[in-house]
Amino acid sequence: MLVEGTPTRSIRSLLEAGARRVEIIDQTRLPHAFVTCVLATPEDAAEAIAVMRVRGAPLIGATAAYGMALAADRDASDAGLRRTGDFLVATRPTAVNLRWGVERMLKQLLARPVSERSPAAWAEAAAICEEDVEQNRAIGRHGLELIRAARRDGVVNVLTHCNAGWLATVDWGTALAPVFAAAEAGIPLHVWVDETRPRNQGASLTAWELAQAGIPHTVIADNAGGHLMQHGRVDLCIVGTDRVAANGDVANKIGTYLKALAAFDNGVPFYVAAPGPSIDFRLAEGGDIPIEERDAEEVARIQGLAPDGSLLSVRLIPAGSACANPAFDVTPARLVSGLITERGVCAASRQALAALFPERA
Ligand code: MRU
Repeated sequence: MLVEGTPTRSIRSLLEAGARRVEIIDQTRLPHAFVTCVLATPEDAAEAIAVMRVRGAPLIGATAAYGMALAADRDASDAGLRRTGDFLVATRPTAVNLRWGVERMLKQLLARPVSERSPAAWAEAAAICEEDVEQNRAIGRHGLELIRAARRDGVVNVLTHCNAGWLATVDWGTALAPVFAAAEAGIPLHVWVDETRPRNQGASLTAWELAQAGIPHTVIADNAGGHLMQHGRVDLCIVGTDRVAANGDVANKIGTYLKALAAFDNGVPFYVAAPGPSIDFRLAEGGDIPIEERDAEEVARIQGLAPDGSLLSVRLIPAGSACANPAFDVTPARLVSGLITERGVCAASRQALAALFPERA
């Protein structure tokens, strides 16, 4: 997508003084500063995932794949690669794309002689990124038809939660890919952007992406969605996912479940954009999905722009109060109108997923 008019991806490989490196956008600095940084080691990749310089299920899968490529340049032995894979997978538990990316890299690399592993690793990580872009482009095409169908008269109002735009993937995004496609197709759109406490991915990242693309949007407090739905001001919800279980239950950013309940109660279609690598056929149902518990400080504090232009983190709650920070929740399949995959839109059910991905089910 374009940043100030320049085509930009969220991750890329580059050569620095003859050494292969990985460049990412430091998403902890957005929307106030667009800053890139370079990952030189697998430990850099793990740190970037853990502190959320990169985040979003598909992007952490791609970053882990490049982390494996950085590892292959240093120690391409079976033990070395397995060790790196283990600590990368341990960084964040909910998005299955992370494990998927590492397992795919290990499968490719361990089957080759050690001498061939480094070039193969960079090629495989690049292939994962290209596939991600094509999957998201296809999700955009399929989701565009849902937006078209939801149009009554005038502007279509889409509500989204967290950031499932291009910053959460290599390019295009998942939940926002249909929005970008609809805007390109000339459909008049407006997006309600949940701020998405505690880390504010909606207010910081989704709003920034939509502003860059010139798409009308309004940031709302997380609790506003139900009210807007009751008053007919939301035509459809589209969110992303970190993991879809085999029965169609969906894990996504904390707060998604409440939006799905409100949508169900108000007859608002609730779609989940889910690329193949986010579907976990090994897990029978959503209750089995591990939910990341993050540092309570993310709830206790908030980061913003200080008057002098620096980033400032301030405390919100009394010093003695405890905080809890479950980072994801699970929306049961019965509340999901459909899954938008690269292979088309299907019901959130075991049968429909198995019919669309027979080779994996
Ligand atoms: O904690 P985050 O910012 O990594 O959570 C991201 C989400 O919950 C996204 O909705 C999900 O990963 C889908 S991204 C295309």
